[in-house]
Amino acid sequence: MTDANTSTPRKILVTSALPYANGPIHLGHMLEHIQTDIWVRFQKMRGEHCIYVCADDAHGTAIMLKAEQLGVTPEAQIARVQAEHERDFAGFLVEYDNYYTTHSEENRVLSNRVYQTNKDQGNIVEREIRQLFDPEKSLFLSDRFVKGTCPKCGTEDQYGDNCEKCGATYAASELKNPRSTISGAQPILKANTQLFFDLPKYQDLLSRWIRSGSLQEGIANKLNEWLEAGLQQWDISREAPYFGFEIPDQPGKYFYVWMDAPVGYMASFENLCKRRGDLNFEDYWNPQSGAELYHFIGKDIINFHGLFWPAMLTGAGYRTPTGIFCHGFVTVNGAKMSKSRGTFIKAETYLQHLNPEYMRYYFATKLSSRIDDIDLNFEDFCQRVNADLVNKVVNIASRTANFIGKLGGKLSSTNANPELTHAFQNQADTIAQYYEQREFGKAMRDIMALADRANQYIDEQAPWTLIKQPGKEAETLNCCSVGVNLFRLLVLYLKPVLPKLAADAEAFLNIPALSWQDHGTLLADHEINKFKALMQRVDMKQIDALSEQAKAEAEAEMALGKPKTALDLDPVAAQINFDDFAKIDMRIAKIVTASHVDGADKLLQLTLDLGGETRQVFAGIKSAYNPDDLVGKLTVMVANLAPRKMKFGLSEGMVMAAGPGGADIFLLSPDSGASPGMRVK
Ligand code: MSP
Ligand code: ZN
Repeated sequence: MTDANTSTPRKILVTSALPYANGPIHLGHMLEHIQTDIWVRFQKMRGEHCIYVCADDAHGTAIMLKAEQLGVTPEAQIARVQAEHERDFAGFLVEYDNYYTTHSEENRVLSNRVYQTNKDQGNIVEREIRQLFDPEKSLFLSDRFVKGTCPKCGTEDQYGDNCEKCGATYAASELKNPRSTISGAQPILKANTQLFFDLPKYQDLLSRWIRSGSLQEGIANKLNEWLEAGLQQWDISREAPYFGFEIPDQPGKYFYVWMDAPVGYMASFENLCKRRGDLNFEDYWNPQSGAELYHFIGKDIINFHGLFWPAMLTGAGYRTPTGIFCHGFVTVNGAKMSKSRGTFIKAETYLQHLNPEYMRYYFATKLSSRIDDIDLNFEDFCQRVNADLVNKVVNIASRTANFIGKLGGKLSSTNANPELTHAFQNQADTIAQYYEQREFGKAMRDIMALADRANQYIDEQAPWTLIKQPGKEAETLNCCSVGVNLFRLLVLYLKPVLPKLAADAEAFLNIPALSWQDHGTLLADHEINKFKALMQRVDMKQIDALSEQAKAEAEAEMALGKPKTALDLDPVAAQINFDDFAKIDMRIAKIVTASHVDGADKLLQLTLDLGGETRQVFAGIKSAYNPDDLVGKLTVMVANLAPRKMKFGLSEGMVMAAGPGGADIFLLSPDSGASPGMRVK
């Protein structure tokens, strides 16, 4: 490992996955951003040149539809959400060098460049495909708008791009029993020309990259499976209406959100370069760059970062990532976060009840370089926070600082226990290595073992007894000074995880901001400030209040998402007066013949008896009725509608029916006793 003191600092660019701008930040996102932030803060403390950028992922159909539903422009919607996201991340003490948006000029230019260069390389191919189309909403359904059964493993209720259960990727049209998540309708297949990125061309590059050893084992295996199954061309275009970047040479087509989203990493960095004179875009992104590039992501988006992204970057003449740091999913009490169980906790809700550093510490104790899921168990959470942070770490300061205050407020000039202070200092490299390798759990365990030793020492010395004995003032001061120094080292080691506690401790210790190399020194003959409580205990009652609120919020939200009523879908039309109504002459009619029409997919031909007069009507009810079942039935028709000439003949009126369409069309029929020709009024 590099020693930041003696060699030139590493240049490191770090990202967290860009959260979608159509929903709030929740504890799953927080795991990722806290993990990244801890790693970045550690690098910065070590004196490395570490830059952390992120952004909102602002494009896609979901965002467009959400804005539509709220009656605002997508631009207004993403700006509001971005402000909320930034507020929540700041609330959890996550510190970016830049937090941007993919809906930016930098990103448009860079996305076009990535596309154009790849196109020049022959990496973009046009192909006609049959795509799922929502016949009710009249739009092509992108992946997230189709759900169905996974074609590989048979798991139900999976999205159109990949399966959460088995991780398979596929085209939405491969789903079994697909349905539109917008209207619930069964999508139809419709031909359409799309642009594809020729991923198979990069088979060799990708297999080299997977074997390069820079990926976690779990990821390398997963990527290998995909490679062995055979890579497929990747559809990077989407049909209007879409909220995103229109493809320069393809009017009406847009870049698929996953095409410009990772480019958003570069765009956020470029935006930062513009604002800071000391950073140069090329230094970090050209293929000869000596900078390191790491993406922190969750296990659900490995394919995008492990396959498409390195291939696209290579095609565009940029460098590939040094590593992809993937984590598992947050579960609550062993199960997936769920709105109905009230375990889907928004960052904002958490912050209304609990200190962000509790969660930072709790996640740190659970994090490793592996991709296992991370369980949040609130009893365990309370116990860890109270036992480790309050009872162990903060306690060291609270049980020694006051005595120093009583004895003049200055630390002793002699070190009464060099063996112990050295033991603490000697752990610095091991702990640093754990941080570097993202083995935060191991780092926390080591640090808490040290805290135990500090408390044991204070227990043995018992300064509260010493101080009562005349002539033992110096001894008391010496032991408490060791205690304060041990506390300072613990704070230093915990600083990447607990930046607020560290800042408060630095104020109490009356020292400048601690950097990693400060572990080599101790405080002697140094005045400290009065001790103030650094952290409160967490109480199960706070957790209960949080759970209650999360549950209430989830219930309110689910009520909003409830299936819409017929009136929601089709509101009552503008008012008319009686004369308007009286113009419509509706009559009871008897269906005397009903038959299919050659060449018509929707129509049935009906002959209607009005009690003396017959009419021919073409009715769009074929999807719901079998002609034979209609003959002999009574129904209601509009008898004075002007005849309409259709491709198949003259339609002399209209039968009345209700329902959304498809199999759900319901002909009106009168109560028994009505006879053909009677007026309906
Ligand atoms: N917008 C894309 C990422 C584009 S990156 C170029 C996206 N957004 S997301 O909001 O759905 O997810 C953002 C990150 O949060 C992903 O890395 C995802 O894995 C992570 N998580 C979302 N839910 C999670 C948990 N329950 N637990 C841990 N991480 C989770 O995907
Ligand atoms: Zn599957």
